[in-house]
Order: sequence, then structure tokens, then C-alpha cells
Amino acid sequence: MIIAIDGPAASGKGTLAKRIAARYGLRHLDTGALYRAVARDTLAHGGDLTDASAAATAASRLDVATLDDPALRTAGLGEAASVVARHPDVRAVLLVYQRDFVLVAPGAVIDGRDIGTVICPDADVKLFVTATPEERAHRRFLELTASGPAMVGAEVLEAEVLADIRERDHRDRTRGTAPLRQAEDAALLDTSNLDIDAAFRAAIDLIEAAMGDAGRAG
Ligand code: CDP
Repeated sequence: MIIAIDGPAASGKGTLAKRIAARYGLRHLDTGALYRAVARDTLAHGGDLTDASAAATAASRLDVATLDDPALRTAGLGEAASVVARHPDVRAVLLVYQRDFVLVAPGAVIDGRDIGTVICPDADVKLFVTATPEERAHRRFLELTASGPAMVGAEVLEAEVLADIRERDHRDRTRGTAPLRQAEDAALLDTSNLDIDAAFRAAIDLIEAAMGDAGRAG
């Protein structure tokens, strides 16, 4: 059983993927963490993010035990990830890991940008999760400031988060290899006006509908 979830930055796909995996007893892979970790390791070795061979070397040496490091979630590494994610050699190395991961029983919920289109084109269910850029920036701003004290200049920061999200979306949608796009057979879930519980219920409805269709077709 493979459930593929794609969508732009801060669309809610990561939180949804985790909850969906728990609901169905499946493994979960956040593929954004792979690209974030490659960016982290490239920088740690003094490499340049735009250097395809330095980034591909970091990808081939990636220690997956470091993928749940909370330090991967910083805004800077999100940006850096989208730079290393443009290199075809980096994507080719990470593709192998992702395909191996989903093959392990009992199956997986895997979220990213190119899962339904490139990594798992035959996934049992595909969702494309999105929300307006403003809503996504607001959520990401709340996430980034959640643990800190009340801030001076919060509005400026939220505007910066929005600008970063727009830039990253543009980079992800326009790259030559595996750009962010909705697979033709993916169900669209717009979470702009949904809180996480409502988005989760909507996702489950879409998944059950897709599995019902597959059952009838089979
Ligand atoms: O959590 P957020 O949506 O901000 O980002 P992420 O899922 O951690 O992904 C970080 C960056 O990695 C993205 O902006 C993409 O450039 C890249 N990425 C990718 O190219 N392909 C994937 N399957 C997942 C992430």
C-alpha cells in the first residue's frame, strides 16, 4: 500500500502524511528531509549548494539516521534544499532510497514534490495538497515562532516568510528535473479554509474514495 502526497511548501502535507500513516499503520517518509539533509551536509563540508558534484557526493553519503534532526526544519535549510534539489544527480541518488523505502511491508505514506509523478507513479492513492501562498506563509510563520517569546516586527517577518515561500514555489515548479506538479490522477485537496482536523477528515474521505474505486476496477 503506497499513498503519495505532494504539494508546495507549508501546505500541510507533512502533518497530514504523519496522521494518515498512523491511521493506516503504514511507514512514513518525509522526502523534504532528504533534500534538507543533503543541503546541510554539503554546507558542512564547505561545499557550494550550486555545485552538482559536491551535492551529489553528500547525497550518496547521507546518513538516514540524521533525518529526524529538528535542526533540519529551519527556513534557511528549506531554501538551501530547493537549491540542491535542482541537481539531477542528487535526485537520482535519493530516488533509489525512496523507492526502496516504499517497498518495505506494510507500505508507506510518502510526501514531497515529485512522488506521484516520478518516485511512485503507480501509488495506490495520490493526493495533491495545496493552500493559498498567504495561508501557507501564515502557518509557517506560526510554526517558526511557536517556541519563542512574543516578537517585535512579527508582521515584517511574516511578509518575509511569504516572499520566501513564493520564491521557493517558483524554483520548485520551474526546475527542469521532476518539477512540482499535480499528477493527472491525483486528487486535489485545498486546505486554505480547513484546520488540521478538517483537512485530515477530507484526506481520509479522498483516500477511501480512491481505494473504493481501485477495488471496483480490480
Ligand atoms: O516542509 P516544506 O514544505 O517547507 O519543505 P520540504 O518538504 O521539507 O522540502 C524542502 C525542499 O526540498 C523543497 O522546497 C524542494 O525544493 C525539495 N524537495 C524536492 O525537490 N522533492 C521532494 N520530493 C521533496 C522536497
